[in-house]
This record gives sequence, C-alpha cells and structure tokens, in this order.
Amino acid sequence: MRPGPPLSGTVRVSGAKNSALKLMAACLLAGGRYRLDNVPRISDVDSMGRLLEALGVGSAWAEASSLSVEVPDQPEVVAPYELVERMRASVVVLGPLVARYGRAKVAMPGGDDFGPRPVDIHLRGLEALGATVETAHGYIEAWADRLAGTRLVLEFPSHTATDNLLMAATLAKGTTVIENAAREPEVSDLAAFLNRMGARIEGAGTSRIEVEGVDELSPADHAVIPDRVEAATFLAAVGLAGGEVVVEGARYDHMDMLIAKLADMGLRISPTSGGLWVQAAGRPRAVDVATLPYPGVATDYKPLLVALLSVSEGVGIVSENVFPSGRFRYVDELRRMGADIRTEGHHAVVRGVERLSGAPVRAPDVRAGAALVLAGLVAEGQTEVADAHHVDRGYERLADKLACLGADVARCR
Ligand code: EPU
Repeated sequence: MRPGPPLSGTVRVSGAKNSALKLMAACLLAGGRYRLDNVPRISDVDSMGRLLEALGVGSAWAEASSLSVEVPDQPEVVAPYELVERMRASVVVLGPLVARYGRAKVAMPGGDDFGPRPVDIHLRGLEALGATVETAHGYIEAWADRLAGTRLVLEFPSHTATDNLLMAATLAKGTTVIENAAREPEVSDLAAFLNRMGARIEGAGTSRIEVEGVDELSPADHAVIPDRVEAATFLAAVGLAGGEVVVEGARYDHMDMLIAKLADMGLRISPTSGGLWVQAAGRPRAVDVATLPYPGVATDYKPLLVALLSVSEGVGIVSENVFPSGRFRYVDELRRMGADIRTEGHHAVVRGVERLSGAPVRAPDVRAGAALVLAGLVAEGQTEVADAHHVDRGYERLADKLACLGADVARCR
C-alpha cells in the first residue's frame, strides 16, 4: 500500500455483519427453511454457520449473498467453547434456544481486545423472564418450562443483550417490555425479521420495545440491511485519500451523527437515490469525537475517525464512552506510522500530522484493522497490515473494493 491518487468511482456496501449474525441465530426460533439475502461473505458469518451446524442447523450459500438456513424441529442446545471462543456474538443463540427448546448450554464468551466483555445484562434479563441461569465450568446453562413476559430495565442499552432478550421474549407467555433498549438499526432489522416470522414486536429502534409473546413462530425470508460501519469505512477512506465516490447501499438515516461529524471535518456528503455521495479535497479539519450508543457516534467508527484525525489540521480529542477499556490498542500501531496520539484512560488526543509513514503494523481487531488499512492509503512508502484475518471477520473483500476505487492496496495472503 502506497500513497495513491484520490479515490473515485462507485462501491457497494455488503449486508450488516451485526444484523446478519443475529438473524442467523433467530432462525433457531422455528424449525423449517429460511432464506436470508444480502448476507455478507465474511468470516464471522462462517463462524456463526459452524456454530449453527453444531446445533444441527444446516446453512448453505444459495447465491452470492443469499444464505439458505434449514432448522430441524429439535436442534442440539449446547454451544461448545471452541466455537463460541471464535466469536463473542455466539452468545445470541442463548435467548432463542431457551425460549424455544426450554434449555441452552452456551460457553461463556471471554474478554477480548476491548477488555472484559461481561454478559450479565443478558443473563439478568433471562432470569427476569423466568429462566434459571447457572454458570459453571465456563458454561452458561439456562432453562425454563416457558418464559414469562415481564418489564426489563437494562442497566446499559447493550446491543447484543437487547437482541438476545428480544428473541427470547417473542415466545414468552404474555407481554415483555424492554426499557433502555439498544436503538441500533440492526436491532430494528432483527425485530422486522422476527415480525415476519409471526412475532408481535413494537417500538424497535426506540428505547422501549414491547413484545407480545406468541405460541409459535414460522420461518421467513429477509434481506439484511446494509453495513453502516463498512459504509463509514469508505467515507473515511475518501476523507483520507481525497476524491469523489458513491457508496451504493449506504443509508444516510442510519449514519446521521457520523455524517454530521465528517461534514464538520470538511467532507461533503449527500444522499443519492441508492446510497451516499462523498467528496473530499485537501486536509480534513480536526474535531472532537465522543462515542455513544446509537444514535450517537458508534464506537465502531472510532478507529476510522482516529485514522482520519491523524492527518487532519489541528487537534481532536476522542472519548470512548461505550467500552470501559477505552478500546485504543491500535493507537500504538498508528504511532508507529508517525501519528501523534496520546491516550489517557478513555481519551485520546490526536494532533494531526502532515503525512504518515508506511510501516509494518498489526491489526488488533476488525475495525482497527480497517483503520490501519486506510492510514496506509495516505502513508509514504509501503504499509503491511499483519493479522488481516481480523479484517475478514467484518469486511467482504475490503482491499479489492478499495482497489476498485483506485487505491493502491492488495491482499497479500
Ligand atoms: N455490557 C455489560 N454487560 C452486558 C453486555 C454489555 O456490561 O451484559 C457492556 C459492555 O461491556 C460494553 C457496553 O455494555 O461496555 C456495550 O456493549 P454491547 O453489549 O452494546 O456490545 P455488543 O452487543 O457486545 C455490539 C457489536 C459491536 C459494537 C458494540 C457497541 C455485535 C456482534 N457487536 O457488541 O461490534 O462495538 O455493539 O456498539 O453486534 C464489531 O462489529 O466489530 C463490534 C465489535
């Protein structure tokens, strides 16, 4: 990767990772055949496919981005450690399994590069719905004859806990209200899918979701919403490299805060009939950024914004408010590329430099890996991003897509 020309052309975003994974788990709620369209061909989807396979669920690519899922009437209920360990999102099979089959045994997901990632909100919610939950020997075991609807107040609007409890509540007896629910577009996508399966959910996308439990659900087809973090990656790429690009499929209404931030930095962004148009010329201007649960600026955008701030004019202060660890591990890698960044707890002070310098770096996680690739676009000399398998977890052919826009980037292995 070498500093290249400004980017130009059109790029299409794939389906949202953080919706597709939950939709796949939601299939456990009813036996039969499903078709999910616009599913991204990423390794996390493969990991979820392997986990479902261990539960007796078949999944196969019907077309390039269409996944066919076949759920038996009585799947297995044990999600083993080797599979859960690969991907924390595996914990979303817990809610559907307990709700539909009365029992689940799911390996306890560990911490990761963001620091400890507890699942207490998931477990407390399931208990409030009437499940007995025990954790021992690295496994969560939960069981219930039938869950019973109740009022849940989440301590934090956790995205995946909202998904898990929403799925569990669809088959509970009576009404469940989830207060302080996560409002991410992917939660709304999951609710739309569940409603197609026969669930009765209202309020998804707001902090108060109401679920009227039903006796059974049936299979449905659904197309996954576009991935807003992938879309953001292309917007940030244009901010760094300059140029003019159309990001097909990107939804303005899923990205308002980020777009406002990028506009403050000097990018021009407007909706087109099927996506977003973005143009950037010259150095971006530094701004301050504070991550917040949706509709705030997502923590997943942060590494992209830090990469952008690294070459902006001025100083930007970036504050992490979603993950307790601060989630700044990639900053050391950016520093190795000449970025001037100081971190202190939850905060990073980024002083823009004129130019980064290419270096061998290591991707610590999926979004940070993408940010390092973007930094490489404007760094002098060659940048090689090791551990690119992290990037593959959430991006479908990132290097190819950037190369189609004129970037000098290739996947080495
Ligand atoms: N939290 C708890 N207890 C819980 C659950 C969460 O304390 O039971 C805390 C977490 O420790 C964290 C905060 O709540 O401090 C937010 O976590 P959340 O549960 O919302 O995150 P998540 O659902 O595990 C999803 C995405 C992440 C994204 C976060 C925040 C999926 C599969 N993952 O994780 O995406 O960063 O929401 O928006 O949906 C990614 O795509 O690379 C990624 C990491």
